[in-house]
Amino acid sequence: MLSKSQARAFFFGGTGIFSVAFIALTIDSMRKLPNQTNSDNITEEVKRGKHIWEDNNCMGCHTLFGEGAYYAPELTKVVERRGKDWIRLFLKDPAAMFPGQRKMVQYHFKPEQIEDTIAFLDWCGKVDSNGFPAKPPLAQRLAATTPIAPAVLLPKPVPAIFTTAACIGCHSIAGEGGAAGALIGAPPLDGVSTRKTREEATAWIRDPQKIKPDTKMPDLVPAVVSEEQLTEIVNYLYSPATPQPVTPPKP
Ligand code: HEC
Ligand code: HEC
Repeated sequence: MLSKSQARAFFFGGTGIFSVAFIALTIDSMRKLPNQTNSDNITEEVKRGKHIWEDNNCMGCHTLFGEGAYYAPELTKVVERRGKDWIRLFLKDPAAMFPGQRKMVQYHFKPEQIEDTIAFLDWCGKVDSNGFPAKPPLAQRLAATTPIAPAVLLPKPVPAIFTTAACIGCHSIAGEGGAAGALIGAPPLDGVSTRKTREEATAWIRDPQKIKPDTKMPDLVPAVVSEEQLTEIVNYLYSPATPQPVTPPKP
């Protein structure tokens, strides 16, 4: 049982110690903050991009830094995940990129507005968000554990990754898809095995810029397409069991 004076000492001592700790931690946070906010890189482009973001209520569907609605993908690291070329094409005509799937709004942005939006999203991606959002995406972790069937056993329909990675948005197969890619000269993929060896096609998809630095094909491996999915794609394109041309499944 504490005496009155002991209780008083306990109260003032405890309050004192925790006040000091609280102030020290606050100062520490404030000191670290400027290095985390990326505020030095707020250019005019980034500011205009933020206005586009707000005026069009992108947050009505998307989240940024986890804030917003959960209808559409989290966009904090979208530039890292998809690359600028991909987003440029996507914002120009979202439906062409994901034919027949749920659609992102077609805003009819001018090219400068697209650049501003990308600058803003790029700036957001470089804010130190303490590891948010978590990596890697669950879908890829699942894919990594899925055994790959030998080429000849692959089912004839186009692998799902053709749609999720938007290959089919840029490249047509059997005359389907390819609307977004038509703007930048993406060839149909039906006959690729007659133009490239298996190894060449694998190396190309793994890192197109390494082979042709100015190409408009985005670098999708491993951000969007895992190594296992890459094997799946190449198996599919080069499988003797895959009659060419082939028809993608109807959505
Ligand atoms: C009505 C809902 C809606 C609004 C508003 C909206 N989006 Fe989207 N957005 C989507 C959906 C849905 C997707 C997923 C693609 C799909 O399935 O078509 C998407 C995808 C995206 C992607 C690609 C993300 C990825 O990882 O593949 C970007 C970038 C994007 N939106 C940017 C924007 C910007 C910038 C705005 C505001 C100017 C905006 N969106 C407003 C629904 C919306
Ligand atoms: C944003 C559009 C875009 C997306 C998405 C895209 N590509 Fe491409 N791809 C291109 C373009 C453009 C070329 C032609 C590149 C060049 O010659 O500079 C190309 C070339 C290729 C080639 C070489 C074709 C040939 O005949 O030489 C292959 C193979 C290929 N892409 C596979 C894929 C696969 C698989 C995916 C999905 C994982 C994919 N691409 C996603 C735009 C795209």
